[in-house]
Amino acid sequence: MALKFEVLGKFNRARAARLTLPHFICQTPLFMPVGTQGTIKGLTNNQLEEIGCQIILGNTYHLALRPGAELIDDLGGLHKFMNWKRALLTDSGGFQMVSLLHLADITEQGVTFQSPVDGKPMLLTPEESIQIQNKIGADIIMALDDVVKTTITGPRIEEAMYRTLRWIDRCIAAHKRPDAQNLFGIVQGGLDPVLRDICVRGLVDRNLPGYAIGGLAGGEDKDSFWRVVAQCTAALPEDKPRYVMGVGYPLDIVVCSALGADMYDCVYPTRTARFGTALVPEGVLRLKNQAMANDERPIDSTCTCMVCRNYTRAYLHCLVTKAAMGSQLVSYHNLSYMMRLSKDLHTSIVEGQFPEFVQRFLRAQFPKGN
Ligand code: GUN
Ligand code: ZN
Repeated sequence: MALKFEVLGKFNRARAARLTLPHFICQTPLFMPVGTQGTIKGLTNNQLEEIGCQIILGNTYHLALRPGAELIDDLGGLHKFMNWKRALLTDSGGFQMVSLLHLADITEQGVTFQSPVDGKPMLLTPEESIQIQNKIGADIIMALDDVVKTTITGPRIEEAMYRTLRWIDRCIAAHKRPDAQNLFGIVQGGLDPVLRDICVRGLVDRNLPGYAIGGLAGGEDKDSFWRVVAQCTAALPEDKPRYVMGVGYPLDIVVCSALGADMYDCVYPTRTARFGTALVPEGVLRLKNQAMANDERPIDSTCTCMVCRNYTRAYLHCLVTKAAMGSQLVSYHNLSYMMRLSKDLHTSIVEGQFPEFVQRFLRAQFPKGN
């Protein structure tokens, strides 16, 4: 195993930990910004460090298409290629194909899809996904899983869960750098507690360095989503990190952390920034609204980020969706907000103030109590 996970504090099921990875020592709970082509849209590496970003996510699928795993390997791995000194995680690629390309088809062999470059049919097997991720060289690599939307029902959910378990053994066998890279397994099973239970047990038996909970945040209601997270975190080992994939909104991160999850990733903060929406303690601030046109306040008066120290809502209103700088500045603030949220979660758990933190968070987001 190429990681160390030390729980520094707990409150009921919530934990604050130190996660030591080959390239960086991270504090959990933590949020990982998503970089698709080896970059977080709109921010430089220096800016990411400045806001306290500890680990970023790259997608195997995108990187394998361009610039290609061979080239990244030849140039010394993704850390060196993109000059990022801190931790990296790569997702296995299957999920991106299924969610981005409706042409993807899953068989026992792997995920088949049409190349968006030349339209040729391609196949991503569990072995290939791991081989590519070994070349990219991230601190954490993800198993290839069979993901189905939580909103579908029937035997396909069961098939995908058992296939994910069969594929984990192919991933483990293909993994050539277990001393330098941590392979995480992914719990599937839709909203069915029996299937989730079988999948958790199967993965825990493989004694992996960490575990992810997948297949969520795909349109199911919050109650079902939180129920699955609660069930999985309760059954996963205490001494390994737990990562809820594709999550999410600040509220989901607070709730999942209360349920004992440690890691999150989502495109939401940067994507919503490009549409002119800023994250604030009260929820969201729509900078495009006409009311912002002459508002001289910063996005968030409680935020000390570079954007809130230097720019007014009025100026950002003028830039958003018209100038690239608008997206960049709002992305910078939104990711700063996510980093502050992660840090506040960590500190409040360590200091025994977690319930007070959650109460303050919820009161700001839902002032009327609903
Ligand atoms: N990203 C968001 N959800 C998932 C998932 O279930 N599996 C993978 N591999 N990536 C994801
Ligand atoms: Zn700010």
